[in-house]
Amino acid sequence: MKCSRCKAPAVVSLPSHHSAFCEACYLDFFTKQVEKGIRKQKLFTHEDRILVALSGGKDSLALVYELQLQGYNVTGLHIDLGIPSSSAPARNSTEAFCTKHNIPLLVKEMEKEGLAIPMVKERLRRPVCSACGKIKRHFFNKIALEEGFTVLATGHNLDDEIARLFSNTIRWDIPYLGDQGPALEADDEHGGFIRKVKPLWRLSEWETANYAFLRGIENHYASCPYSKGASFTFHKQVWATIENHMPGRKIDFYQGFLERGQPLFAQASEKQSDPLHPCQRCGFPTSAGVCGVCRIREALAEGQ
Ligand code: AMP
Ligand code: FES
Ligand code: ZN
Repeated sequence: MKCSRCKAPAVVSLPSHHSAFCEACYLDFFTKQVEKGIRKQKLFTHEDRILVALSGGKDSLALVYELQLQGYNVTGLHIDLGIPSSSAPARNSTEAFCTKHNIPLLVKEMEKEGLAIPMVKERLRRPVCSACGKIKRHFFNKIALEEGFTVLATGHNLDDEIARLFSNTIRWDIPYLGDQGPALEADDEHGGFIRKVKPLWRLSEWETANYAFLRGIENHYASCPYSKGASFTFHKQVWATIENHMPGRKIDFYQGFLERGQPLFAQASEKQSDPLHPCQRCGFPTSAGVCGVCRIREALAEGQ
């Protein structure tokens, strides 16, 4: 197989783009897709101070690497969840990566916050993943605002977005559909939400993995012992089958949603969703009186 651009031997085949690329042309393709994703959805500019949430996995490391290459002002944020088998390798690979590439890094330890995930799991006596997600998102927001960043970026890719979209659609969850997309606007009125963006929204897991491999991005990522592999595993399998039969359908479906579906759901959900208020305990926005994380803290205190 030859590179679709320069006719050198190809190293990556991309049926969804009806292309194959040699290493140099592939890296250029990846850069252009990230640029296009940022430009089309007006995610941020070179004036922004971008906090990039780094799990230690290949997606978020590839993201911060590429944004730094493109000259953006980036700082990493790693949340150390305190899970014995997975948190140490995740933190170590994040720290080693940021040191190697001169990327400033903030690390927040949940143990010091009294929210180490194994302890939360033991005390709450229900599946911990949703509580863990709430805790992570709470600290992404809090740290980004406190440290004066203008935008928070995560490493979610096209497969993550499609799986989430599919899950929201199966349930016809109007508020979630109305909020879904590569950019979630800031909310300064109700206590403060930072603007959140997903610059890898045009790139699949496979495309990002190839980029990470070609860039020599090392990660010793151990998957979380509490979740059965990646989130939305089943939905991702369904979409792998669809994409296999109809190459290119994934990005078309997602772009079609952004152009023609999302605005309608956003309009409809204005009427349906509960209004936001500052949390009575911590002040960050919530549709309940007390936010999810403060309720977790209360449940832990009661259990003691
Ligand atoms: P996941 O939900 O594990 O697929 O992660 C989605 C994105 O959330 C990653 O690409 C990261 O940007 C971010 N993320 C997940 N876990 C962490 C963590 N422990 N610390 C910082 N960012 C994280
Ligand atoms: Fe949060 Fe597994 S429960 S990473
Ligand atoms: Zn709160």
